[in-house]
Amino acid sequence: MHLGGERVLTLLVGGFFGDEGKGKIAAYVALAKGYRYAARTGAINAGHTVVYHGRKFKLRSVPAGFVNKETQLVIPPGALIKLDVFFSEVRELGVEKRICVDYRTGVIEEVHVDREKRDSVLASIGSTFQGVGAAMADRVLRRLRLARDFNELEKHLCDAPLVLNTALDTKEKVLVEGTQGTFLSLYHGTYPYVTSRDTTAQALLSEVGIGPKRVDEVIVVFKVYVTRVGEGPLEGELGLEDVARRGWLEVGTVTGRPRRVAPFNYELAKRAVLLNSATQVAITKLDVLFPEARGVKVWDRLPAPAKKWIEDVESYLKVPVTLIGTGEEVEETVDRTRDLGVEL
Ligand code: GTP
Ligand code: IMP
Ligand code: MG
Repeated sequence: MHLGGERVLTLLVGGFFGDEGKGKIAAYVALAKGYRYAARTGAINAGHTVVYHGRKFKLRSVPAGFVNKETQLVIPPGALIKLDVFFSEVRELGVEKRICVDYRTGVIEEVHVDREKRDSVLASIGSTFQGVGAAMADRVLRRLRLARDFNELEKHLCDAPLVLNTALDTKEKVLVEGTQGTFLSLYHGTYPYVTSRDTTAQALLSEVGIGPKRVDEVIVVFKVYVTRVGEGPLEGELGLEDVARRGWLEVGTVTGRPRRVAPFNYELAKRAVLLNSATQVAITKLDVLFPEARGVKVWDRLPAPAKKWIEDVESYLKVPVTLIGTGEEVEETVDRTRDLGVEL
C-alpha cells in the first residue's frame, strides 16, 4: 500500500478456467482509470477478446490495455511470444511504436508446435497445441531461444522489469494482465488438466519482475457462469441443449472449440479469492443472466434481481464487486469503485 492512498499497481487474474472476460475488464480499467502501462503475461494459447467502438479484437500477444492510446504496452520476461502471431497483431492494431518486449521473453518456434502435435498426454488433456508447453519445457531445460536472439525484434527490445519498476517509482499506473484462469494453474489447478504455467496473481509478479510489496489491488474476474475448454473436471457441467437454451454457448478464441459450461460455482470462486488474495472482484456477462441489464452503466439502473445476484456473490466472497460487465463493448460496464470507496 502506498502513502496517500494512491493506487498504482493492479493485477488482473481469471478466477475460473480462463475466458472469464479479462480482456474486456483490462481494456476498461486501462481506459477509464488512465493506466500508463499494461503488461500481458502468459502466451499465445490464451485469447483475450476486446470489443471497442464496434470492432472486435482477438488478442494473443498484445495487452488488452492497447485501447488506451496513451498506454505503453509491455511483454514481460516470463511471457512467450511467437514471431508471426506477434508481428501480425502488432501491425493490425498499429501499436508498433508503443510496444516493447523484454530481452528475456521466450520465443515459440514451429518445432514446438510440431512436438506438441505428436504428444499423447497433451492430446488427452485437450491442449490448444500452440507450442506453449513445449517451449516452456525447453526454457526449463535452458535451450529455448529468447527475444534477444532474434534480429527482427531488435527495435522492440526493452528491460521490462526496469521499465515497470521505474514507472511505479514515479507513481505511474501499471496494469498486469493475467491470462487463463486460477484452476488452469500448473500448481493450483486441476492437474494434469492444466496449462504449463502458474496463472495466479503471485506468479504474474514473477513473470513481470515486480516484488510483492508493490501490489495495491488484485482484481479476480469471474463470469456469471463457468466455462472450460479441453478436458478436466467441471462440476455441474450442463448438457449442450441446456447450454443453448440458456444462451450460454461460447466458442474458444484461439481454437474455435465449443466451451463446456456449468453454472456459477461459489466454492471455486471462494478458493480463487483465497489463492490470489483478491482485493476486488469483477463479474462479466451479467446481461446474459439478466437481459434487462444489457448496456446498463449505472448500478441503480440494474434490475433488482441482477443487483441481488451481485450482492449475494459479494457477501459470500467477502470481497467488493467493483466492476460489472453488461455487454461485450468495453464501455458496457457498471463501475462501482467510487460508490464503494475503492480506488483503482
Ligand atoms: P483468456 O485470457 O483466454 O482466459 O480470455 P479472457 O478472459 O480475456 O476471455 P475471452 O475474451 O476469451 O472470453 C470472454 C467472452 O465474453 C468474449 O467473447 C467477450 O467479448 C465476452 N464478454 C466479456 N465481458 C462480457 C459482458 O459483460 N457481456 C457480454 N455479453 N459478453 C462479454
Ligand atoms: P495448453 O496450455 O495449450 O497445452 O492447454 C492445456 C489446457 O489449458 C487445455 O485444456 C486448454 O484448453 C486450456 N487452456 C489453455 N489456454 C487457455 C485459455 O486461454 N483459455 C481457456 N483454456 C485454456
Ligand atoms: Mg480467452
